[in-house]
Amino acid sequence: MGSPLFEAAKKNASLAYKLDQSGQTQQAVKYYVSAAEQLQKLINFTDDPNMKNLYYHKAMEYILRVKEIRGIIEPSETPTPSSTPSPKSDEIEAAISSVIVREKPNVKWEDVAGMEEAKRALREAVILPMSRPDLFKGARKPWKGILMYGPPGCGKTYLCKAVASEVDSTFFSVSAANLISKWLGESEKLVNELYERAVEEAPSIIFFDEIDALAGTRGGSSEGEAMRRVKTQLLQAVEGFATGDELLVTVGATNTPWDIDAAMRRRFERRVYVTLPEKKAREVMFSIHTKGIPMGTDVDFKALAEITGGYTAADIALLCRESLMQPIRELDAEGALTDMTVQVRAPTADDFHNAMMHIRPSVAPKELARYDEWRDKFGG
Ligand SMILES: Nc1ncnc2c1ncn2[C@@H]1O[C@H](COP(=O)(O)OP(=O)(O)O)[C@@H](O)[C@H]1O
Ligand SMILES: [Mg+2]
Repeated sequence: MGSPLFEAAKKNASLAYKLDQSGQTQQAVKYYVSAAEQLQKLINFTDDPNMKNLYYHKAMEYILRVKEIRGIIEPSETPTPSSTPSPKSDEIEAAISSVIVREKPNVKWEDVAGMEEAKRALREAVILPMSRPDLFKGARKPWKGILMYGPPGCGKTYLCKAVASEVDSTFFSVSAANLISKWLGESEKLVNELYERAVEEAPSIIFFDEIDALAGTRGGSSEGEAMRRVKTQLLQAVEGFATGDELLVTVGATNTPWDIDAAMRRRFERRVYVTLPEKKAREVMFSIHTKGIPMGTDVDFKALAEITGGYTAADIALLCRESLMQPIRELDAEGALTDMTVQVRAPTADDFHNAMMHIRPSVAPKELARYDEWRDKFGG
């Protein structure tokens, strides 16, 4: 609480409320939506389940009000369930189209350092069955659900992008949090149509990022009820949608595996721990994230890898950007960048060391222990 994001959400919400009260409902919509989006972000930033819950319910309250204003659902004072208009199918169509990744993402398989186990799991689930369907017959079935879990910034989303760009399949990328906030009430239907479409366009990969947003739905509130239905729908879909030999795999990713309940765990039969990069992977990351920029002669990626134990992949990417920026920053301070012919010096080892002073490992050892514990219990 008290974070800038929280304050911003509060401000938007109270503005929305005032406008709403004074009859300027259409103007209120924008502020409700902003508040809900900010709360959604806060949900991802906090580990505290009570706060998550509180943010979630507040966000839902605003979203429901927006839907009322837009006339999508009847005002709650006059509940008339039978006459609730169902979402237009073109609306759902548009939503599905928006989650299909048609353009190949700009991440190649070789841009992914380390992550050997995750790569292997995805090869077995996706790449091999598609290139050698003859081998995956009978009892040797490809995985239907893969769960990638681990601390933030270690490459779950990134690796999936690489898969999408390498594999010739239809790739659906859905953020679970978005699905719920935008489609509450209709998201059940959306899940269904998404899987129908995935079967039609098979081979398909459905990537559900932040899948924990769907979990943790206890309590009897109506929002909780709606969310639980979406989850049930999704779980059924993961298991049962492709009835024939269509290749259809659901890949879920989460930073908070402990929020995933037993039913969901069971559907994601293959579980992959994506954690801090090893030394060798860090070394490769330094070269990946400085690609195309000539380095000073004293820059030694191997030595940098030695001293960056505990850094996540995202920390190293940031460290590189920061170090690459330093020569530019100096020239800018001198006002020299207006000269188009000015020479930019190559980044040096000192640039990296200086950047390391303020870019510190973003995951604390204590948090890591929690992931290790979960792996020991449920990983596989
Ligand atoms: N294996 C990797 N090799 C190189 N860079 C990586 C790798 N994994 C992650 N990164 C960098 O870290 C950033 C954050 O990774 P991301 O996939 O968003 O983490 P997560 O989804 O696990 O929270 C990526 O955008 C990329 O720049
Ligand atoms: Mg991610």
